[in-house]
Amino acid sequence: MAKVLIVDDEKSIRNTLAEFLRKEGYEVETAEEVNQALALLRVTEFDLVITDIVMPRISGIELLQQIRQSNPDIQVIIMTGEPTVDTAVKAVQVGAYDYISKPIVKSMLIKVVKQAIHLKGVTDKKKLLEYKNHQYQKNLEQLVEERTKALHNSMQSTIMVLASMVSLRDAYTAGHQMRVGNLAAAIGEEMDLAPSMVEGLRVTGYLHDIGKVTLPAEILAKPGKITKLEFEIIKTHAAQGYEILKDLRLPWSVAEVIYQHHERKDGSGYPDGLKNQEIMMEARVLIVADVVEAMSSHRPYRSSLGIEATLKEIRENSGILYDSDVAEACLRLFERSEVDFVISGDFAKTNFVF
Ligand SMILES: [Fe+2]
Repeated sequence: MAKVLIVDDEKSIRNTLAEFLRKEGYEVETAEEVNQALALLRVTEFDLVITDIVMPRISGIELLQQIRQSNPDIQVIIMTGEPTVDTAVKAVQVGAYDYISKPIVKSMLIKVVKQAIHLKGVTDKKKLLEYKNHQYQKNLEQLVEERTKALHNSMQSTIMVLASMVSLRDAYTAGHQMRVGNLAAAIGEEMDLAPSMVEGLRVTGYLHDIGKVTLPAEILAKPGKITKLEFEIIKTHAAQGYEILKDLRLPWSVAEVIYQHHERKDGSGYPDGLKNQEIMMEARVLIVADVVEAMSSHRPYRSSLGIEATLKEIRENSGILYDSDVAEACLRLFERSEVDFVISGDFAKTNFVF
């Protein structure tokens, strides 16, 4: 039931109007002056206020102004015994719904009240819909965010499990993968590659030697020089890595890039002897990161070749074995000493960075 507040200093008018409106089914309260009206407005949610303009101390226009500040949705009808165009205009300017003159004609009053209450109902419904829509949107955004996070977490743990599989066979390779992933991502950032591609480089680096799980442990852990046959066996790890990961659904071409991570720009690499642009962009980055990390860290069969020798290799073969843009980006990183990936091969110091 709609609630109406009638404000008038004349008791007979208050009572007559209240009776008219109660008979029409409205819930009505009355106030004889503005302060009393404001006190009622603080405790009750009215849909409509009908107020006289000329009252002792505080006018109906001031009441209207105060209502507009605290509750812009309440409809207000102004009435006065001295109708002038100026008062009517002022009343509408400060937000009155309508203006009626005394003496009040019952049918006119009821018509205007009905319209005002109807408008209030429409405004309330619109507000409710807007609120519900906003809440729905908020919940939806939250849900999407939660699902994305859950998906990311499950993808991250899959990658971590896969990457750590290698450490069961070869602890060195597991640490190597972490460092290559982080370095490849740093090079990618230096080259201004898209953030998603940089993340893909990191993940691909973390998994790039996974094919080594298929190699005999004696070869992986063998100290000293390896034979030609052993090297041929080691070379199969690129294609094996592709086989292991080709059905894994990730947002990057991880398996394809891993297949190419031992190719060289001049066609001297393996497994397919691809050249230049035949090698995927991500693989070109991974190739450099792999060489830099492998040369600068300790291997079971030799100690570190040192960072100077490593950078010399990259500098001298930039544009020959290695993509020159990638090689230059990598050299810039080292010149600025921005690469803090661990050269020593200490697995504990290298972490996933997602
Ligand atoms: Fe490899």
